[in-house]
Amino acid sequence: MTESSAIPIRPGVADERVRILVLDHDAETREALAEIFPNDRFRVTCAETSAAASDALERFPVALLLVDFAQADLEADRFLREISRLSPDTVVVALTGRGSVKEAVEYMRDGAYDVVTKPFGTDDMARVVEKAMKHQAVCRHNEELKRKLATSEKLAVIGRLASGVAHELNSPLDGVLRFVNLSIDKLPEGDSVREYLVEAKTGLVRMADIVRSLLRFSRNLVVENEPKALHPMLVDAAAQVRHANASSKIVVDISVPDETLAVPAGLIQVFTNLIKNALDAIGDRPDGRLRIEAEGIDDVVEIRFVDNGCGIPEKDRRKIFEPFFTTKDVGKGTGLGLAICARIVEKFNGAIDLSSEVDRGTTFFVRVPRKR
Ligand SMILES: Nc1ncnc2c1ncn2[C@@H]1O[C@H](COP(=O)(O)OP(=O)(O)OP(=O)(O)O)[C@@H](O)[C@H]1O
Ligand SMILES: [Mg+2]
Repeated sequence: MTESSAIPIRPGVADERVRILVLDHDAETREALAEIFPNDRFRVTCAETSAAASDALERFPVALLLVDFAQADLEADRFLREISRLSPDTVVVALTGRGSVKEAVEYMRDGAYDVVTKPFGTDDMARVVEKAMKHQAVCRHNEELKRKLATSEKLAVIGRLASGVAHELNSPLDGVLRFVNLSIDKLPEGDSVREYLVEAKTGLVRMADIVRSLLRFSRNLVVENEPKALHPMLVDAAAQVRHANASSKIVVDISVPDETLAVPAGLIQVFTNLIKNALDAIGDRPDGRLRIEAEGIDDVVEIRFVDNGCGIPEKDRRKIFEPFFTTKDVGKGTGLGLAICARIVEKFNGAIDLSSEVDRGTTFFVRVPRKR
């Protein structure tokens, strides 16, 4: 697989160029297409086989796929189904050398958005790409609206559940935990009953965490709005997560060059969850590193959490903000973390976004109005 040279848009910020994937067996067409698109707006990756193209679609978001099915090693209908499974957002434009109407209709019936006949000029291609990008923007907007509606319905149900069950569970759970702690303190180290109680405590702490998450989720999500200096907040959040993962060797770098940056205090919950998620995604990968950077851009503070962990596959990207979506083992994650983060950030009139590539890592962006 080959790629046009990467131009960093802004240091430390993910590449925001439109990503195009070309699948064509013919080297000349691949080269011609890689040259047509200006490097500052487009990032073109070329694949020779459908396996290489599928791999790319799984690993990073592809806005547009240009494919010559006659030159590809897979039947068009099967490959189009595979694309919509791996990367439903990708717009497919078929390239055809024959110019047959029947073939074009078949491609479009199977899911291609448009068909371009070879040989094509630079202007033809530019027109098709612009049209395809507009089409994609409309589809994305519709998907976003559908997703928001589905999430808000789920939130309403969870809100009711949280304020009912979780409130009822919270106090007895607190009491049990307190008595278990007292009993542990009374028993000598090495006592088998003490060990049983320590095990029981682990489960209770987990239950208390879940109840707390559900309570945070309830409709009256309380978030502290007073301004707090950003740098010490990030240091605190990293320390809290570190405390719970004492054995982790992952390096966490925090860089906030502007000491005057301040944000709402309630964002600490967002920071701890993003840091915890990043450490989980890095796991015990060698050279694991999380870089946290922040800068003030006019009246907005942008905080970036850049990890070199496992990345998020395309098929999961739209689901990760949904309540209860988790890929972690039972007992390791409730799937409420990012849903809570999104709600908190929204309460502060901010936005949360991400860019990710499988096996390379993920960057989460949090943007909130600057506090003075
Ligand atoms: N930095 C990241 N790298 C890779 N995957 C991530 C990252 N952050 C989140 N994810 C994915 O998003 C999913 C949802 O994250 P979220 O924080 O909502 O829930 P969780 O971490 O699984 O559970 P909880 O936060 O409730 O303990 C995770 O299970 C993981 O698959
Ligand atoms: Mg989480």
